[in-house]
Amino acid sequence: MNIQWYPGHMTKAKRAMQEDIKLIDLIIELVDARAPLSSRNPDIDDLGRGKARMVLLNKADLASEAGNAAWTRYFEAKGFQVMKIDARQKASLKQIHSVIQEACKEKIERDRRRGILNRPVRAMVAGIPNVGKSTFINSFAGKAAAKTGNKPGVTKGNQWIRLNKQVELLDTPGILWPKFEDQSVGLKLAFLGSINDEILNKDELAAELCAFLLKAYPGLLAERYGIPEDRSPHELLEQIAIARSCLLKGGGYDVPRAARLLLEDFRSGKLGRITLEFPENPGLQENKNN
Ligand code: G4P
Repeated sequence: MNIQWYPGHMTKAKRAMQEDIKLIDLIIELVDARAPLSSRNPDIDDLGRGKARMVLLNKADLASEAGNAAWTRYFEAKGFQVMKIDARQKASLKQIHSVIQEACKEKIERDRRRGILNRPVRAMVAGIPNVGKSTFINSFAGKAAAKTGNKPGVTKGNQWIRLNKQVELLDTPGILWPKFEDQSVGLKLAFLGSINDEILNKDELAAELCAFLLKAYPGLLAERYGIPEDRSPHELLEQIAIARSCLLKGGGYDVPRAARLLLEDFRSGKLGRITLEFPENPGLQENKNN
């Protein structure tokens, strides 16, 4: 399956981000915990040179525990402050303030030496589309974020949300663009739903997902749908259509519906917690590891 995707507005987004980065001390980078490398653009390392950095493994609730632990170690070894979160759950964000202080300790110390006390850290949330930036900002900034947006006459864009005495957050996230170094990256982003589905052949995509699951999570499709697994990926989709009574009006099975169902089950976590790539094996994951 050939995935090509580079929307024109990403160039504009990059320029906007270059401007915004000048205003901040800290980049809070969100990646998808199920595919942390595929869902991050390494250009951010250049864009964010000299800034304090933090990586949040978001949607950790959908990724395997083993995957979350392995990726936490991976990013920590690169010198980032790391946290796994579910951006929808405020409770999972509790520790962030102390992690922010840790990520910015050099800046805070620099300020202190210059006699600047209590200047808040200015932070920006960044990540590729659909990674959970808006959800995170809403949960993290809560009422403060809502207030900014709801004030009549206040244009959205480059407003600072004061979180407490120590932190101010830029209300507009930095949008990064996915980087398609190889087809497996595009494929993983497509599985996650981070690429506009409309341009993709969903039957092909679902067949690719079947092929991946057979290899990396053997037994999972059998368990979820009660189907035999000794079939080709396309035959498996047909089996899912039969198992889930996806029927066509004129007779026969509605395979495209089964394909959509499988993708939806994967994306919503109904298939279980699945990590698509591991640090030691950045291709599609080979072994069930959770
Ligand atoms: P973006 O601003 O980076 O583009 O992403 P956004 O916050 O819009 O989130 C994209 C989707 O991911 C949303 O679902 C959101 O609810 C979901 N999401 C964000 N963080 C998490 C997380 O940690 N765990 C899980 N399981 N889901 C998360 P949606 O279906 O597009 O919208 P909605 O139906 O939830 O409103």
